Amino acid sequence: MPEVNSKDETLAMSNVTGTAFIVAEFRAEENEETAPLYTDNIVKIWLNDETKEIATKIAKNSPAAKEMVKLRTKYFDDVLSNQILGGCKQVVILGSGLDTRAARINGEKATYFEIDDSTTLELKAKTLKAYNVNANVRYIPGDYVKDGLISLLKQSEFNLELPTYFLWEGNTTLIAKKDVIFVLEQIRDNVNDFRLSFDYMSEQVILRTTGYQDINDYIDKYESMYTPWITGFEKIATLADELNLKLIENFSTADLHAQYRPGRTLQSNLFKFYFVCTLENAVGCVNPEI
Ligand SMILES: C[S@@+](CC[C@H](N)C(=O)[O-])C[C@H]1O[C@@H](n2cnc3c(N)ncnc32)[C@H](O)[C@@H]1O
Repeated sequence: MPEVNSKDETLAMSNVTGTAFIVAEFRAEENEETAPLYTDNIVKIWLNDETKEIATKIAKNSPAAKEMVKLRTKYFDDVLSNQILGGCKQVVILGSGLDTRAARINGEKATYFEIDDSTTLELKAKTLKAYNVNANVRYIPGDYVKDGLISLLKQSEFNLELPTYFLWEGNTTLIAKKDVIFVLEQIRDNVNDFRLSFDYMSEQVILRTTGYQDINDYIDKYESMYTPWITGFEKIATLADELNLKLIENFSTADLHAQYRPGRTLQSNLFKFYFVCTLENAVGCVNPEI
């Protein structure tokens, strides 16, 4: 096994960048299921004893986090796959971290663009190369808020006219609400034909107003070990209306759990307050069926 993910290169887990390693640990575990929701044989190349130890500690205190990552991975995998099969030619993954979809899902039919900080993307490219993993991807180091998403894309031969799927996973909770809206506006105003999926927390979770003490306790523990959750949305349909976007789908992770894990009980009330959604512009992407 190539030794590229050395301890020195593993990023601090308490900052937003380091969160990618924890998510990767949670995601990887699904491979051990008898009937996994998805198969990700690549993600393990970034994992080591250190990432496992930290993720295990977090999961012990916040077991729901692991399952929520797996449920959203399955949902986004399916939407992405169907988008490409339906004709989308470009996939943009914002805050891609250690996302492996460029190497796993239909890379021969679409070009992937991944945006994250340079340290994460350099480690990613280096590790994929060391393991001989091919991915049809352009890495775009930068901050999609401060540098401007569209400016970053324009520097990388992104075609604003081609049907495009944007995936924004594991990010909106961690950045300011005004920045989430700014990103959505940039996509809406510059890309002709797109669909976009992201996950989000209900604002009640952020404000500690769900009425469930177990959720408040959960966040307190989670934030003390990980990174703060600062943004949530109460009604995503209202946000979509305000931005003149069309809401195609909106599921709570409790809905996904009922669909994907029939027979298993929910580990936490939090699943009812954590969502995935898919939106599109007024024109609509090429594939009306997700
Ligand atoms: C929780 S991780 C999620 C990674 C990946 N999307 C996933 O779900 O596995 C968040 C990632 O978003 C990146 N990120 C957050 N804000 C960003 C920004 N403004 N510009 C670029 N990357 C950002 C972080 O560096 C980190 O890699």
